[in-house]
Amino acid sequence: MNCKITGKKINPFMSFGKMPIANGFIEKKDFRDEFFFNMEVGFNEDISLFQLNDHPKPEKMFNKDYPFFTGSSEYMKKHFKEYANFVKNYLNSNSKIIEIGSNDGTFLKNFITQTNNVIGFEPSESVANVAKKSNVPTITKFFNKSNVKDLNKYLGQTDLICASNVICHVPNLNDLIETIDLLLSSNGTFVFEEPYLGSMFEKISYDQIYDEHIYMFSASSISKIFKRFDFELVDVFPQITHGGSMRYIVKRKGKINISSNVEKIIETEKKKDLDKINSCLNFKKNCENSKSKILKKLIDLKNLGNSICGYAATSKSTTILNYCNIDTQLIDYICDTTKEKIGKFSPGMHIPIVDMKHFYNNVTDYVYLFAWNHKEEILKKEKDYKGKWISHVEL
Ligand code: TMP
Repeated sequence: MNCKITGKKINPFMSFGKMPIANGFIEKKDFRDEFFFNMEVGFNEDISLFQLNDHPKPEKMFNKDYPFFTGSSEYMKKHFKEYANFVKNYLNSNSKIIEIGSNDGTFLKNFITQTNNVIGFEPSESVANVAKKSNVPTITKFFNKSNVKDLNKYLGQTDLICASNVICHVPNLNDLIETIDLLLSSNGTFVFEEPYLGSMFEKISYDQIYDEHIYMFSASSISKIFKRFDFELVDVFPQITHGGSMRYIVKRKGKINISSNVEKIIETEKKKDLDKINSCLNFKKNCENSKSKILKKLIDLKNLGNSICGYAATSKSTTILNYCNIDTQLIDYICDTTKEKIGKFSPGMHIPIVDMKHFYNNVTDYVYLFAWNHKEEILKKEKDYKGKWISHVEL
């Protein structure tokens, strides 16, 4: 594969095998035509970037059927409220704000009362329509140079561009950063949060890797990538969301002093070899061990006569189920709160997705927590569940 940023050829260091679209919850009638791709990952040492070898076209994932709604998690709603307060440091009363991948408007809603200078870019109609209904100005298109060129009011005048769990979805980062360059005011700030490579390696949470996550960033990679476009990583703030994320603050070069946080984290990443392929090779071994361990656990539990279900039909679960080859012989059903997923089947392994009533009426001995990153919220909600919780990551 060629690195999407440097154009340089890199060889995959690991394959997760045949993978369907992570959010491609499917009806029985469509099983025969299900789309699969070979999920391999590689590492570009020039810019310390962990990336997918190949990925489906974004239009295949972000469309009218995209089923992930930010507002479905109370915890994430709270997180976005705090995030909105944090970014106010980079705003004045007239500032224009753009969010890339604004989903159902959960984040931008926090600004609507103060300013009308807000736009969200959200290509997935399913979620964009919810944002529009909440009066969040939303452009139902991908964020790219061609789609911003007529936004005269915003060109060179946007003080804040934000994104959350979106930049790792964008194949053409060159175009993305050039688009930011077109819009950002001279002292403007680009703030974004992404799942963090260091956390994924530590937790062996390989389920962070799926079609939508083309990249897994670190401070080292972000700093190197943005430098190529005359931008600077000026601060970083670790987050606990999504099992370990990083909030990156980027400005045009030379605008403010770079925080000591940046130097510290890049030093730590060097010590852990996160800027080199060695850490990836170690991760590969850890993934293989994790797969054997969880499969053995599920098979042993089944052989002892236990029933097992899954909790939350996450996009991450698609990687676990397909990589470990877990189907209805091991997991009876997966319960979820999202009406767009209920009644369908999990991508690739075709485990039925059911509503929460089914979970309460068909109590299993064990439950695999696929939304392990929402553990606190879920365990609190399900404190009356009598069975045991399991997962491939530590709970
Ligand atoms: P994601 O990990 O791909 O973002 O998806 C999260 C899924 O988890 C989404 O389908 C909603 C579901 N979910 C529940 O069913 N119950 C919950 O309590 C939470 C927090 C999420």
